[in-house]
Amino acid sequence: MQFQILNQNLDEIKADFEAVLVVDKNLEHKFIKDDFKFYKFDGCGVLVLPEKRRIYVGVKRLDYDYLRVAMSQIYNALKGYDIKSLKIASYLCKCTKKTFQAIAEGFILGSYKFDKYKSDKKESSLDEILISTDEYNEKEIDLKKADMGLKFGKIIADATNFAKDGVNEIPNTYTPDHMAKEAQNLASNYTDVECLVYDEKFLKEQNMGAFLAVNKASIHPPRLIHLKYTPKSKPLKKIIFVGKGLTYDSGGLSLKPSNYMLTMKCDKSGALAAMGIIKGASELELPFEIHAIIGATENMIGGNAYKPDDVLISRSGTTIEVRNTDAEGRLVLADVLSYAQDFNPDLLIDMATLTGACAVGVGQFTTGLLGNNVELLREYKDSASMSGELFTIFEFNDYLRELIDSQIADVSNVSSSRYGGTTTAGLFLDKFIKDEYKDRWLHLDIAGPAYVEKAWGYNQYGASGAGVRANLYFLQNLAKELK
Ligand code: BES
Ligand code: ZN
Ligand code: ZN
Repeated sequence: MQFQILNQNLDEIKADFEAVLVVDKNLEHKFIKDDFKFYKFDGCGVLVLPEKRRIYVGVKRLDYDYLRVAMSQIYNALKGYDIKSLKIASYLCKCTKKTFQAIAEGFILGSYKFDKYKSDKKESSLDEILISTDEYNEKEIDLKKADMGLKFGKIIADATNFAKDGVNEIPNTYTPDHMAKEAQNLASNYTDVECLVYDEKFLKEQNMGAFLAVNKASIHPPRLIHLKYTPKSKPLKKIIFVGKGLTYDSGGLSLKPSNYMLTMKCDKSGALAAMGIIKGASELELPFEIHAIIGATENMIGGNAYKPDDVLISRSGTTIEVRNTDAEGRLVLADVLSYAQDFNPDLLIDMATLTGACAVGVGQFTTGLLGNNVELLREYKDSASMSGELFTIFEFNDYLRELIDSQIADVSNVSSSRYGGTTTAGLFLDKFIKDEYKDRWLHLDIAGPAYVEKAWGYNQYGASGAGVRANLYFLQNLAKELK
């Protein structure tokens, strides 16, 4: 999709269609009061007037996320029309650059589709968005900043859509080895990104007994994938993202009921978010050394499967009693987090579709945010939320910590209580974070927002790319702070 900012009045710009925002149900619009009445348009949703070549979209406020949703609604309402170009005024939020960024993100995120397996692909012809500087006076507009905003928005939304493509791909095709090839392919497109892939032999050498156990009943060998982005100038910080890359989670011998197993191709969402971040970081030329370290495997059943009652020896030496083979993500992460700390990160962020409890607790739209460093949690939440992704902080406490005690090993892979499942999963991961990294670690439980079963906002059915935008916004803000 092409975006262009034109220093012209909206009326002077030639385009196939025009979009107008109706803010806070303010229907006192210059052209069209009668039409609003006739169509009973109350300022919510969209009103398309094909004869007038105009679309109206209601927004509550001119905030960034309302803008993103509105742009997505515009695109989707018009995708059936034979039009190429659309013009729109530039609606002023709090800061020019971010407004344009949000406009680009809204269109690109909203236009995503996964139609690879559809025989009848419906292509939209709308691909030119013309933005008028109409709404600004000379002093307010900074065209360079506005252009930069569009560029950033495009990069961030493309990185998100890249992650969606991987998550949406079917489990029969998208195996751990396939994921590794995709990572290598990503690295080959960027001179500042390297990729190392490790196989079973390496995992054995590394004593990754927990990761290997999860893989045991799968016919597809596991992969440890390590992507690294190096900036041109001396990095301001080293930041490591760890991703849960379960290419399928059947639950293992603690088999999921069939209606819960459906959608479990999405259990690789943390891994794809980490890859999307590397892609975005390279294109944004962020001033950090950024790693994505991914544990890729399936969790399957079979004669060779790991079992409830097994005790695993993890890479760090901590022994784990398996009481439920469906709590497999934390086993993979235990070993990958241990590995990641060897690289001495300034910040360590893991992303995982870890617990159904997270969606039960805070709804399917929100990512759970956990860690030991209260200040970092708050700062991260404020900064990452500007992306439009939603976060809730889950706090650790010692009573919950006791619930993962084991009678026969150092820790149990599930809690002894049915309550607090997201926090106890976070506390399990915490057992594998060394003292010196406790305050530099964040855990993102994306089980709720990663996969969309009923479209919301600018997210269509399927993968949402959760974690990509949030972290790219966080990293962009951090770069600005440190500059
Ligand atoms: N991959 C699932 C979590 C999940 C659930 C992701 C729903 C996306 C949507 C994870 O491996 C899992 O099965 N967790 C169990 C943990 C339980 C056994 C303690 C769960 O949430 O039920
Ligand atoms: Zn599971
Ligand atoms: Zn899982």
